[in-house]
Amino acid sequence: MILVTGGAGYIGAHAALALLEAGEDVVILDNLCNSSREAIPRIEQLGGRRVEWVAGDIRNRALLDQLFVRYPIDAVMHFAGLKAVGESVRQPLRYYDTNVGGSINLCQAMAYAGVFTLVFSSSATVYGDCSCMPINESTQCGQPTNPYGQSKLMTEQMLASLGSADERWRIGVLRYFNPVGAHPSGLLGESPRAAPNNLVPYLLKVASGQLPALPVFGGDYPTPDGTGVRDYIHVVDLAEGHVNTLQYLRQHAGLRAWNLGTGLGYSVLELVAAFERVSGVSLPLDRRERRPGDVAQCWADPTRAFEELGWVAQRDLDTMMRDAWRWQQANPMGYEETARPVPSTASLAAQAQGAG
Ligand code: NAD
Ligand code: WQD
Repeated sequence: MILVTGGAGYIGAHAALALLEAGEDVVILDNLCNSSREAIPRIEQLGGRRVEWVAGDIRNRALLDQLFVRYPIDAVMHFAGLKAVGESVRQPLRYYDTNVGGSINLCQAMAYAGVFTLVFSSSATVYGDCSCMPINESTQCGQPTNPYGQSKLMTEQMLASLGSADERWRIGVLRYFNPVGAHPSGLLGESPRAAPNNLVPYLLKVASGQLPALPVFGGDYPTPDGTGVRDYIHVVDLAEGHVNTLQYLRQHAGLRAWNLGTGLGYSVLELVAAFERVSGVSLPLDRRERRPGDVAQCWADPTRAFEELGWVAQRDLDTMMRDAWRWQQANPMGYEETARPVPSTASLAAQAQGAG
């Protein structure tokens, strides 16, 4: 059985489903600070099986110890954490406590329970402001520029020390680039509790009329159209990469890091054009100054994941936008306001087809 921390969240929910589809049993631990329990029955509906789930905090050692006793857990996928860059600047202790302290607590409980296989959600943010593209796993150009990024780098360093100190550990560090999109059913997607800051969640609010215009930060970057370039990756591709990583770790001891990205960079304006093309919705844009802390461009060299994990992203930018739009239309306010019954997969698919 796989313990999925943060499994009610955006990426964790898709990974929990991918695990079910791969035949694994899943227990989710999530304190719902940035997610909804509504995700759980939807994972079960799509996976066709029950998921065990516990409401609780990764910083609660007694709870973790109970979980490892109660369930036959043999590996952990660790998504739980806080991820808002701006908030991390204002509340650094909260970020270090949850992201670093929570990860240390989890590893201590794992070792106590004799469970040594861990997949950790890291981020391309650990590479800092790099000018050498694409970024491979050995690239060392900078340092993260905010407490969120630092917390990911510190956790990576803690895990590396752990891997060196005790050869029983099998640790996969996955550095995600820019996860976007949603499950094609329209049942799982990103449902942040706070106002969106990231490009695609903000864009979806504008497209659905909940926000007036999409800010486009910076038009003077050294990129083809002057806007920032990123490696957007479909969340279902990302989730599948976790299953491949688990399979790898079952064969290999030690610690290894992999980039999960497509290897392609798209600008803000290219992403907007793709969204308009697949949705038929025209987006009002609000051209602004550069956003502090943003890098001009960032995309992955995903060769290592292909060669070692046998994983490659399959879904293109249009698919990412189409699936994100389907999710938004089916869940205009995210999971929260769905006190109504869960819509059937068939009715959502029909609705999505109708929307083109
Ligand atoms: P998310 O906020 O949707 O999911 C995180 C989940 O963790 C949420 O369900 C939240 O309720 C839960 N959680 C937070 N603190 C907790 C705690 N103390 N105990 C138990 N549960 C807790 O975010 P996501 O986008 O799914 O991100 C998942 C992981 O991937 C995070 O570690 C994030 O830093 C990392 N990551 C995300 C991105 C991205 O752009 N989404 C990029 C790189 C890395
Ligand atoms: C993408 C591009 C913006 C919003 C962040 C974190 C990173 C990782 C992924 C977790 C940039 C532009 C954005 C808007 C815009 N998270 N933009 N208008 O900054 O690449 O990465 O999420 O690990 O650590 O920093 O993602 O989606 O915020 O921005 O023009 O309203 O869109 O300037 O070029 P980012 P993003």
